[in-house]
Amino acid sequence: MLPSTALITGASAGLGVEFAHLLAKDHNNVVLVARSEDKLQQLATELEKQYGIKAHVFASDLSLPGAAQALLESLRLANLKIDVLINNAGFGTNGKFYENPAEQEFAMLQVNVVALAQLTRLLLPGMVARGYGKVLNVASTAAFQPGPHMAGYFASKAYVLSLSEALAYELKDSGVTVTALCPGPTQTEFIERAGMKESLLFTLGKSSAKKVAQAGYQAMLRGEATVIPGLHNWALAQTVRFTPRKVVRSLASMLVK
Ligand SMILES: NC(=O)c1ccc[n+]([C@@H]2O[C@H](COP(=O)([O-])OP(=O)(O)OC[C@H]3O[C@@H](n4cnc5c(N)ncnc54)[C@H](OP(=O)(O)O)[C@@H]3O)[C@@H](O)[C@H]2O)c1
Repeated sequence: MLPSTALITGASAGLGVEFAHLLAKDHNNVVLVARSEDKLQQLATELEKQYGIKAHVFASDLSLPGAAQALLESLRLANLKIDVLINNAGFGTNGKFYENPAEQEFAMLQVNVVALAQLTRLLLPGMVARGYGKVLNVASTAAFQPGPHMAGYFASKAYVLSLSEALAYELKDSGVTVTALCPGPTQTEFIERAGMKESLLFTLGKSSAKKVAQAGYQAMLRGEATVIPGLHNWALAQTVRFTPRKVVRSLASMLVK
């Protein structure tokens, strides 16, 4: 069998770098996507040398409308078929929704929701036609409840989880699986970028990016619909289902602020 090709968005940092290593180590060729072309080139060189695979770099700002379609066109021109899609790129905005810079909120929606949905929608038909494919969408434990002070981010991750679970069901028996990875707080650049260093959520403890990526990768290989790495994160996500929404809202606000 020919080696698979895996497209990883957000491959320049954090979880994305870990996913790229896991896939390359298992002899998959990789397509690395993010804005930071220099970091992607450096990673591509490292992966090719370390694992003897082919690594392609496509610098793309997924917050720009049309970016996903342009990326697909570049893949077509390079004659690259994607067997594994890791929708990992994402970031969080912190503050009151109505006060946060509007363009930042819209860019987040575009990256976390729109680009993810577009890449999934555009790549799935090929996978289904070939009878093989894997999609791993990075959601968050934020997906399980509303998050005052990170309202847009929590809502974006609820979309990712809901879409992924429904697609997993629609695609059963097609040879294509969809998995939603729901990490809790994880040590990556996300914390700094979201301005959350001082938040209770991130001072209570963090998982390593390596462990979280490994959990997501294994769940994807097994074709599981969802995975929540860490027993405490899993327990919290279950507790939310039996707690009054009013209480959940104020607890989430306390953790995020
Ligand atoms: N860390 C956590 O605590 C945590 C918890 C739950 C879920 N998550 C989710 O995990 C995923 C990965 O985040 P991370 O924790 O690894 O954070 P990270 O270290 O900040 O990495 C984020 C990645 O997304 C890329 N990205 C951001 N904006 C982009 C844009 N406009 N266009 C293209 N790529 C863009 C970044 O690349 P460039 O800047 O080079 O473009 C980077 O490669 C995200 O979806 C995040 O929401 C994180």
